[in-house]
Formats: sequence, structure tokens, C-alpha cells
Amino acid sequence: MYPGPTLEVNNGDTLVVNVVNRARYNVTIHWHGVRQTRTGWADGPEFVTQCPIRPGKSYTYRFTIQGQEGTLWWHAHSSWLRATVYGALIIRPREGDSYPFPKPKRETPLLLGEWWDANPIDVVRQATRTGAAPNVSDAYTINGQPGDLYNCSSKDTIIVPVDSGETNLLRVVNSGLNQQLFFKVANHKLTVVGADASYVKPFTTSVLMLGPGQTTDVLITADQPPAKYYIAARAYASAQGAPLDNTTTTAILEYKPLARPNVPKSNPLCQLCQLLTIRPLPLPSPPALEAQEKPWCPLKSIIICIPGVFTTDFPGNPPVKFDYTGNVSRSMWQPIRGTKLYKLKYGESVQVVLQGTSIFTAENHPIHLHGYDFYIVAEGFGNFNPSRDTAKFNLVNPPLRNTASVPVGGWAVIRFVADNPGVWLMHCHLDVHITWGLAMAFVVGNGVGEMQTLEPPPADLPVC
Ligand code: C2O
Repeated sequence: MYPGPTLEVNNGDTLVVNVVNRARYNVTIHWHGVRQTRTGWADGPEFVTQCPIRPGKSYTYRFTIQGQEGTLWWHAHSSWLRATVYGALIIRPREGDSYPFPKPKRETPLLLGEWWDANPIDVVRQATRTGAAPNVSDAYTINGQPGDLYNCSSKDTIIVPVDSGETNLLRVVNSGLNQQLFFKVANHKLTVVGADASYVKPFTTSVLMLGPGQTTDVLITADQPPAKYYIAARAYASAQGAPLDNTTTTAILEYKPLARPNVPKSNPLCQLCQLLTIRPLPLPSPPALEAQEKPWCPLKSIIICIPGVFTTDFPGNPPVKFDYTGNVSRSMWQPIRGTKLYKLKYGESVQVVLQGTSIFTAENHPIHLHGYDFYIVAEGFGNFNPSRDTAKFNLVNPPLRNTASVPVGGWAVIRFVADNPGVWLMHCHLDVHITWGLAMAFVVGNGVGEMQTLEPPPADLPVC
């Protein structure tokens, strides 16, 4: 199946997913955005919390959804296999609970993707060999289909049925590899009610901007004359003001005749405008963690076994001063082979300033943290300046996300409480940027004896 199966669960459910690798490549599966409280062995990034599942082998991921509702997704976390190995993870309220908005008539997941007429592993090989940007994908897709503006695919265009007068829920996921995408439905307003599986204070917009990894839940009311309307998504970086063309993927909201939306082009302010509008609903307090007795050092099985590859000298002392103009020492331009770790004490409050540097390419970076949701307390352009910018922090109702778009030539400040022990990758969700080294991991201990708070790994955890 492409995309893979949609998993539909309720808050509080425990998922047991037996992944059998029938492909020719190593694979792991990551449950993007699932908090994985004390279940880091089910998180999935290869060589961080597990070694890959080899061809012919299997691994069972077990984890519980705790207090998250909305749309998340799952994807391969090995090389660039997530280009084709991904699907939606829909989390509904517990039985008997309801949405904090009127019950939609229908619900439709819409996975925005990227397709190469090539083996994605060859594409990434080329990107690492030459250091040049990888080939841009040959098509964008909605639920696996490019849509009818590409010659090849018009008969397979995805149809999204809507009942006249009714309100429907669209669960939009940017599962693309390397492109931020704008999303729009012709003639219809979108009411945003959720992002990254947190409910938000509803607001209305005509266009969404999603970085790879991000999800947005919107209500759409079929209040237009009965017709077919285009649903369209296109790359954030395409030329200013061009009409819809065969770099735009489409699906059809089932009405007729067709109307074409005018999806806006590159507008760096747009992600700020969306950030500023997203506000969380009051959250239930997180479940209390019980003390664990079994001592276990997760580092032993995965990380320490590769000496010298993982080091804890990040981000340096004092940290390197990055600059949005790319004006940093040349020694910082090249990644090194290895993953830098940063140790956090269990329960510690953490603030991270993500500073765009434009060293390599001028792009927004959708930075994703595993094992946590975080608050985005501020974003801005230029260099982060603590004495000037701290005053602008939103400490009242900042958006809660698992992926933050750091604006090109700018910065973002995120905060979270390190209440989930384990090893948690943080990386840019443009896949080519992970390949180039834009990734590190937090190691969260319990403050007593480092890592003594995790259950031992399951017996079938793949070893290297
Ligand atoms: Cu959606 Cu580390 O990934």
C-alpha cells in the first residue's frame, strides 16, 4: 500500500505493531509525535534507540497513547525510506469523550508526500556523494497520487467526498521529505482545530503552511454551491505568483464544476503568521510518572557500542555563536561523522534556542524532537538576542508542537520539561538535512544515577 495503512486508535489505547521486514533494505518505524513516555524502545530512529530490522526479520513496537488526541503519523526512520513507507495515525478521544468541537460528518486523512521516479536510496547516495542538493522529487502527492495537473495521474486523482451543508474534518500531514508545503481548498475556509495532536483554539484561515513532519487538523464546511473544488498543495519555495502548474498536487473535494484555488507562493512571513495564530486549548495535566525499580542503561546496547561516534561535548563550552548570515568559522561548515549528545537531568526545564545560520542553504528548518511536545515561546528574524527578545516570549499560551519551523534567517525558542527518560533524537525534518548532519540527541536521565529509569529493552529489539 502507498501510503501505508491508516491506524485509528483512541487516546489511552496501547498499540502493539508487529513490523515484518519483507523488503530488501533495513528498516525501522518511528511513530512521529507519539510521546512514548518511558517506552523509548518503541521510538524507532535507527542507531539511536534500536538497530534496524533486517530483511526477513521483525520487531514488535509496543506503546500507549497518553493524553494525545488528533493526527500523528508513522514513517520509516532509516535512510530515506520514509519517502514511501509512511501512513496516518489517527487518535480519537477515549470512548465516551468527544472532540472539543462539533462532531464532523466525515473525517479524511490527507497525506502530502513526495515521489521520485527513482529509488530514494540512490537519490540520497547522490546527495551525500556530491554534497549538492538532491534531485527535487518528480511529483508531490496527496494520499499517494499526484492529481490531475500531472499528465500521468489524472484518472487516479484522490476524491474527498463532502456532504452539502455538512462539516468535515481534514487531517492534513506533511509527510514529504524535503519540502515545506502550502495547502488550500478552493473557495473554502479552513478552521484549524488541532496541530501535532494537540487541540488548538480554533481560528480560520484560507491557507495552511506545513513543514515536513507537521500535522494540522481543519474543519471545512461544505457551504458552497454543490460542485467539485480543487484541494491543492505546492512547494513553499516555488516561484512567486506563478499559476497552478504541474508542480502542484491536487485532489478533488467532490462537487462540480472544478474551481482552481490560487495557492500563494513563497512568503516567509506566513509561517510567523500561522505561528502567532496557533494557541493551545487548556491541556489536561500530564500523567504522573511512577518510579521504576529495574536499573538499565539504554546507552549500553545501542550507543556506547560504537565508541567515538557518539560524544557528549555538544554544543561546546561556551557554545559556538552562530550567525544568521552564515558568518561562522569554516570549521563549522562540514558535518562530522557521529551524533552529538546533550545530557539532561530528569525533570529539568529546558529552553533551546534554534538559530538559523544560512551556512549552507537559505531554508526554513522544521526541527523535530522525539519523545516530547514542546512549546514554541518565540520566533523572529535575524540573530536571537536574549536581552531584546526574551521580553517577547509568549509564556501564557504558546503553541505546543513536536516540529517547529525555524524561519530562514531567523530563530525559534522552544521549551519543554525533560520528564521522559531515554535517548531522544532532535533533527531537521528535511530528510536531506539529517543526511548532512543536522541532528543530535538528548539523553534524559533521572537525576539519581543517570539512566536508571527505563525498562529493559524488549527481547526482540534488533541488535547491530
Ligand atoms: Cu518524523 Cu525523527 O522523525
